[in-house]
Amino acid sequence: MSDRSFAADPPSPPGLEGVVVADTELSRVDGAGGRLVIRGFDVEDLAEALRFEEICGLLWTGELPDANATERLRAGLARGRALAFERLPRLGLALALDDPMDALRAALAQLLDGPVAEPELRLLLTGAAPVFAASWARGRVRREPLAPDPALEHAEDALRMLFGERPTPARKAAFEAYLVTVAEHGMNASTFAARVVASTRADSLSAVVAALGALKGPLHGGAPGPVLDMLDAIGSPERATGWLEGELAAGRRIMGMGHRVYRVRDPRAAVLERALESLEREGIRSTRLSLARAVESAARDLLAHRAHTRALEANVEFYTAVLLDAIGIPRALFTACFAMARTAGWLAHVEEERRRGRLIRPDARYVGPEPAQRRERALAGAA
Ligand code: COA
Repeated sequence: MSDRSFAADPPSPPGLEGVVVADTELSRVDGAGGRLVIRGFDVEDLAEALRFEEICGLLWTGELPDANATERLRAGLARGRALAFERLPRLGLALALDDPMDALRAALAQLLDGPVAEPELRLLLTGAAPVFAASWARGRVRREPLAPDPALEHAEDALRMLFGERPTPARKAAFEAYLVTVAEHGMNASTFAARVVASTRADSLSAVVAALGALKGPLHGGAPGPVLDMLDAIGSPERATGWLEGELAAGRRIMGMGHRVYRVRDPRAAVLERALESLEREGIRSTRLSLARAVESAARDLLAHRAHTRALEANVEFYTAVLLDAIGIPRALFTACFAMARTAGWLAHVEEERRRGRLIRPDARYVGPEPAQRRERALAGAA
């Protein structure tokens, strides 16, 4: 093994773009082809067929769970929801924080009194997220939190705790499709954060808390709320081009457009659009779908005419905003819904990272002053 220092090398590309940091069996994000493969299945097929319990099973074990395994997962996630609910009186001000992602992070950080072994811990962490998100949202309108129902499937209970009544089958199916679609997506920023923490041999809860912090940012999971704000600000299709031109002229990014890896339209955008169409067939019409399509088309045209070196197309967050809004979820909770789903993916990566078992500890090239320069400067100052 060489003992040379890497610290003199030029740094990797900004944002580690194109740098492969791990082998993974979890998913392949094909940026040129616009394809997402999760454990050997196309995301389109998974979104149509799976419940949230089943994508958890697939991610955590590598195989689609059979009926018995799915039932065990359902019961395990229900245990997580129950534990989180029991925990509510002891969370202090966590769920009173203004930002729902801050609240979710603070509450999850206090979920456990002591160590819990895997795989139970995975179930508890994944089960807890919707309880905290729903309790936060109900607290904003001075409503009491609703206890989870251990007999229900996870997606259905998540919506029930939020709305105060069981969702219609169409809403449940749409939310389930959303959760499955966004549960896993390669080495995104929050997953990388979770893997860095896992590589230090810290517990899974710490990895999830770190990932939540990364997910919150508007360049990652924080985009869908602002997408809905944008649609509201535009209001009607004929205003789209002018409004977007104003944003670009002011140097602002169009939320929901562009992606680090995809050079074509994010395949998950189409999956979520299809979920919106299914909702429409069930009589739940999104007032914003046709506007969103017009805004996407105007944004794509405008961005194509700018001097970017890459194509900028709609990403998953664009239609996340429209779908979650059509289901009836308040926009403040969009990123928390993302977290509910992605926790499953983070925890699968945490496990994979643990198997690799090597601390992630890259290097940085020092470009600050040397001691001799400091001394020279001090002498010059004294002269
Ligand atoms: N609106 C306007 N311009 C955009 C843009 C957007 N949404 N996304 C990228 N660009 C521009 C950049 O300003 C840059 O311009 P330049 O070449 O003139 O400097 C160029 O496109 C390349 O962008 P870059 O910053 O290299 O892309 P990235 O890989 O770092 O960023 C995102 C990827 C997702 C962070 C970026 O596209 C973005 O900010 N999108 C909006 C936020 C969003 O939807 N996030 C959710 C992601 S799933």
